[in-house]
Amino acid sequence: MSQPDILNKPLAESSPISPEALACPVQYNERLRTEAPVYHCPHSGIYFVSDYETVRRIAKDHETFSNKFGQAMRPTQEVDEELAAIQAEGYQSVDTMLTEDPPVHRRYRGLVNQAFTARRVSTLEPNIETICHGLIDKMLAKGEVDFVTDFAEPVPLTVIAEQLGVSLEDYELFKTWSDAFVAQLSGMASREESLEAARMIVKFQQYFAARLEERRENPQDDIISDIVHAKFEDELPLDIPEMLSILQQLLVAGNETTTSSIAEAVLLWIQYPDQFAKLKANPDLVDNLVEEVLRLSTPTANMWRVATKDTEIQGTPVPAGSMVMIKFSSANRDAEVYPDPHTFDIERENVKTQIAFGYGVHMCVGASLARKEMNVAFRCLLERIEKFELLEEIEDLNYPPNVLLRGVSGLKLRVS
Ligand code: HEM
Repeated sequence: MSQPDILNKPLAESSPISPEALACPVQYNERLRTEAPVYHCPHSGIYFVSDYETVRRIAKDHETFSNKFGQAMRPTQEVDEELAAIQAEGYQSVDTMLTEDPPVHRRYRGLVNQAFTARRVSTLEPNIETICHGLIDKMLAKGEVDFVTDFAEPVPLTVIAEQLGVSLEDYELFKTWSDAFVAQLSGMASREESLEAARMIVKFQQYFAARLEERRENPQDDIISDIVHAKFEDELPLDIPEMLSILQQLLVAGNETTTSSIAEAVLLWIQYPDQFAKLKANPDLVDNLVEEVLRLSTPTANMWRVATKDTEIQGTPVPAGSMVMIKFSSANRDAEVYPDPHTFDIERENVKTQIAFGYGVHMCVGASLARKEMNVAFRCLLERIEKFELLEEIEDLNYPPNVLLRGVSGLKLRVS
């Protein structure tokens, strides 16, 4: 296969967030790590950080590198009247966990941690297993499937939908909302797409404001009830816009990312049959498999930070207010930490150091749930599926361009 054009040009002639660079992240990130692990892009002014140690250092230093990038993601709000009119129908958008810093972040995170306890995650296991077996039954009956829509999407979507009090008949809506948030995050949406996403987000807010009221009156054993009733020290409970912001984050972060990792695992299964033979012989390796799949897929590929003061990164001066992109996907393939980094090795010894869930105070609140979903999904697939055959060429698979997230949109397979 010929090398994408962008890889033959000097770095300064393109941007790391152009669709061309996003289309070949593995090779492009390798170039960044080799040529400029801290790269100041002359087109966008953004600083890109791609080596493992520096990504970790920045993720940990929340005083110098803030997560308050929410405002930067909503640039057109004031200037676009049509968008403002749509948003006026819903609740005001507030920054909570992902886009807040300590000490404010600590309050939200403390409340949400109360809903993601080890007890909660372990009680979900039998249900995740039932969901997986039901989907596998359907795939085996069909023979030819789209693994993304027939398995990788419905597993996390069903789990989180149930936990957020969404009834079965509303699942399609739920998926539409998740897609709307992802479109908003992609940094690639046209104005029409942004307006449509804003309409969907208002519907999401109205729907969940009603669910929150229901749970306030009538709590159940689920995550949404825990959030409504969570209390942090002597502080007031969360108000509706705060809770909606949190639910929105759970919806997006809980679906798209887990789906991408489960789908990527099956692609690896097809490419590395010997590794999966090892796993069938020794199912105890499944925890390692989960970590190695996370390392190679890193669905939250990149994340924003904003410099709070004049600083430097590895000697490169970074003025206050600069946008910095930390590249978890690149850090996880840094040869200094992971020898032979692009090879899938379920016995990789240091794989638990992978940072697909981030690092520092923002480290993923849903990590234990995501790990559980992947673990159960892989065990069920290993038990029931003998063979996956890809019905299209690997090079033809579609990864929609998105500056933060990466995942395949469809995977046509024959299962037996
Ligand atoms: C394979 C699956 C997942 C991956 C790779 C992933 C990745 C990440 C990463 C890298 C961050 C840190 C962002 C930063 O440093 O700014 C994060 C934060 C977060 N994730 Fe996940 N995530 C996954 C699944 C989930 C699930 C299942 C949920 C919830 C249902 C979830 C909810 C969140 C939330 C709310 C945050 C923000 C936490 C904070 O700012 O304190 N994620 N995730």
